[in-house]
Amino acid sequence: MKRITLTEKDMYKGNLILVNQYHLIHDQEIQNTLEPFNPTFSNILFNKSANRFLQFILTEISAQDKIVPVSGYRSLEEQEEIFNTSLQNDGYEFTSKYVALPNASEHQTGLAIDLGLNLPEIDFIRPSFPRQGICNQFRHIAIKNGFIERYKKDKEAITNISAEEWHFRYVGHPHAKIMSLKNFCLEEYIAYLKNFKDTPLKYDRYEITYLPYQGQDRILEVDTFIEISGNNIDGFIITRTSK
Ligand code: DAL
Ligand code: ZN
Repeated sequence: MKRITLTEKDMYKGNLILVNQYHLIHDQEIQNTLEPFNPTFSNILFNKSANRFLQFILTEISAQDKIVPVSGYRSLEEQEEIFNTSLQNDGYEFTSKYVALPNASEHQTGLAIDLGLNLPEIDFIRPSFPRQGICNQFRHIAIKNGFIERYKKDKEAITNISAEEWHFRYVGHPHAKIMSLKNFCLEEYIAYLKNFKDTPLKYDRYEITYLPYQGQDRILEVDTFIEISGNNIDGFIITRTSK
């Protein structure tokens, strides 16, 4: 049996943090969670464990030369620059649809990546990632490997971001799979999980519970394989794998 203490800071990190205009990113030491996408795109940084799954998917569908990373981790300064440049070039309406406000972008977590078809010209804000061919193959296999398409057309009223077919967010397994089965965007999923405070949500070999922070450190007794993430709002999501 192991003891884990969860502090307030832990609420703001992990694969399931919800980052949007209402739940801004909290300062975290994330530099050591990042790595270059690959040697060719060494300037694009991405979360290490998410990248392991991403590279696996690309290899699995032989897409290494067909799908390229366009934007991964962004610092606050980079998000500010992207926002301001878009504002100048394309105006407020466009920018508010496709670029999150500084500190409201999940690119700042290192868990989000924009992918594009490897074309001679790639739009930085809206790369082409069509719902057919290799990109759709990617979409299907991505779900099994912990990635969600974060901004869908039918969820625009909730996310306040227009459909972005190219923006993928790592949330980990089995969360991407459950979200896909229930057609939940991340805002809906995080709210839904709050129902599982006393009785876990069971899926396959997994048991998922929500643990509210309630203003004090929480101590967990752990005897099975466990993954813990903050929700960036008010508590933690505990994912246990049964023995
Ligand atoms: N394009 C997404 C919304 C971002 O800027 O984070
Ligand atoms: Zn993006």
